[in-house]
Amino acid sequence: MFLLVLAILLVQAFGLAVHDVNPNSIAVDNVSLDSLPFPSRQLFQFEHNGTWIENVAARANGDLLFTVLQPAPQLYSLTAVQSGDPQPTQLFEFPNMTGVLGITEVSPDVFVVAGGKFKGTATPILGTFSLWRVSLVDTDISCKINCVYGGKKPSFDKLMDLPDHVYPNGLTSVPDRPGVILVADSMGSLLRIDVTSNKTDTVAAIPEMAPVQGWPFLMGINGIKIYNGHVYWSNSFAVTMYRMAIDDDGFAVPATSSTTSLPATTTKDDANTPAFTATTEFGNNNSTDVTVETVVTMPITFMDDFAIDEDGTLWITTNPNNTVIAYNQDTGKSAVVAGSQQQAAMAGANAAVFGRTSSDSHMLYVVTAGGLTSPINGSFIEPAKIVAIDTTNAAHIGL
Ligand SMILES: *[C@@H]1O[C@H](CO)[C@@H](O)[C@H](O)[C@H]1NC(C)=O
Ligand SMILES: *[C@@H]1O[C@H](CO)[C@@H](O)[C@H](O)[C@H]1NC(C)=O
Ligand SMILES: *[C@@H]1O[C@H](CO)[C@@H](O)[C@H](O)[C@H]1NC(C)=O
Ligand SMILES: *[C@@H]1O[C@H](CO)[C@@H](O)[C@H](O)[C@H]1NC(C)=O
Ligand SMILES: *[C@@H]1O[C@H](CO)[C@@H](O)[C@H](O)[C@H]1NC(C)=O
Ligand SMILES: *[C@@H]1O[C@H](CO)[C@@H](O)[C@H](O)[C@H]1NC(C)=O
Ligand SMILES: *[C@@H]1O[C@H](CO)[C@@H](O)[C@H](O)[C@H]1NC(C)=O
Ligand SMILES: *[C@@H]1O[C@H](CO)[C@@H](O)[C@H](O)[C@H]1NC(C)=O
Repeated sequence: MFLLVLAILLVQAFGLAVHDVNPNSIAVDNVSLDSLPFPSRQLFQFEHNGTWIENVAARANGDLLFTVLQPAPQLYSLTAVQSGDPQPTQLFEFPNMTGVLGITEVSPDVFVVAGGKFKGTATPILGTFSLWRVSLVDTDISCKINCVYGGKKPSFDKLMDLPDHVYPNGLTSVPDRPGVILVADSMGSLLRIDVTSNKTDTVAAIPEMAPVQGWPFLMGINGIKIYNGHVYWSNSFAVTMYRMAIDDDGFAVPATSSTTSLPATTTKDDANTPAFTATTEFGNNNSTDVTVETVVTMPITFMDDFAIDEDGTLWITTNPNNTVIAYNQDTGKSAVVAGSQQQAAMAGANAAVFGRTSSDSHMLYVVTAGGLTSPINGSFIEPAKIVAIDTTNAAHIGL
């Protein structure tokens, strides 16, 4: 936590990268303000300060799964999500880790998670990271810790150790390729791993995925999602969302055969330009010359993980900026839909997922780190939590 605080102080001291703008004035573009923020409801909160929920996945049955970075490397389930009394269950604590990061579903009710060891809150110890498989097939986890399971027990199996130059962060599954995932390596590359065969490829290792120089800790590509033939990624300190075309197998489409382009690109502050590239490859070097498109750069300090809805609107969490921002790629309109810099509503919001059932597909579930990296007003933190944001009004406000 102190590292990021330090980072922000350094940046302020040297006048770099901090865009001193009212988030509403920058992020609201021709949308009707009277229905903002969107209605929200807290579903769960840990009891203690110093807790950090890192990522979240929605199950087909309506439950949520969330990974914990602090205080312990745990996986939780939240059941009865749409009831007035959602129930948390700790499913597992992973051995040889201090924190768990990304999570993705690779086949129905089978998930892959990444985790490893950290020094302090946000400094990864490279060489300690691994991928694990979590199977919840035919399990009944609607009970508390140490319960007697009604169905099969969930299973937790280590898949592979990651090499010592890889810092896995966001994970996402390649559609219609069960077991094939893309892994955001925050040191500056995008990996493709087929967990059924252990085949691994470096898909790309390009400047837009690399950490931005000048920040005291290394964090480039962070969240990743696939939408409409493209992989989208946030580069956190570049505060920029990028995308590139991928084929049906999850490999990059080489530049020459890429035909799409985005009309709207935003200019980048030089201070925020990723400055170096990962030089090592994991598995096959399948990186190729790709066309990278800048989707949007935002005047915030940090762009964390995000969700994409069926219309392609990006729902971006901003961790130290304590907000969730929606950005419509077609119209270029955006809005802070929840939280604000000085409020705890979205304190340390760092990942989001839409519900998958017919009754909650409009609900955006956001997980938080309680403001740990950058306490509100310099001192306020709270326990990590999960909040449901009702996005029904997105169309009404012009998003
Ligand atoms: C916002 O509204 C102004 C005034 O009506 C208009 O000139 C401008 O083009 C609009 N911008 C967008 C992105 O719609
Ligand atoms: C944990 O690490 C120890 C020491 O490196 C090793 O012996 C053990 O096999 C590891 N356990 C798992 C589950 O990876
Ligand atoms: C993949 O690697 C794991 C761990 O090294 C090993 O147990 C498993 O058998 C391998 N799977 C295949 C299909 O090679
Ligand atoms: C590299 O990616 C292409 C798809 O772009 C795929 O056809 C090829 O098999 C991959 N090569 C290796 C060595 O994995
Ligand atoms: C991987 O392949 C790309 C594209 O051919 C090349 O630019 C890069 O230098 C290669 N990396 C390594 C470590 O060989
Ligand atoms: C974002 O958060 C950082 C850290 O709290 C703060 O210094 C910066 O002013 C914020 N930026 C905006 C646009 O609110
Ligand atoms: C931060 O300070 C502002 C201005 O004094 C206040 O309105 C707000 O409630 C404070 N936030 C928290 C979480 O205490
Ligand atoms: C968390 O810390 C804040 C001060 O930042 C304090 O006001 C609050 O009571 C603490 N909450 C818990 C649950 O300890």
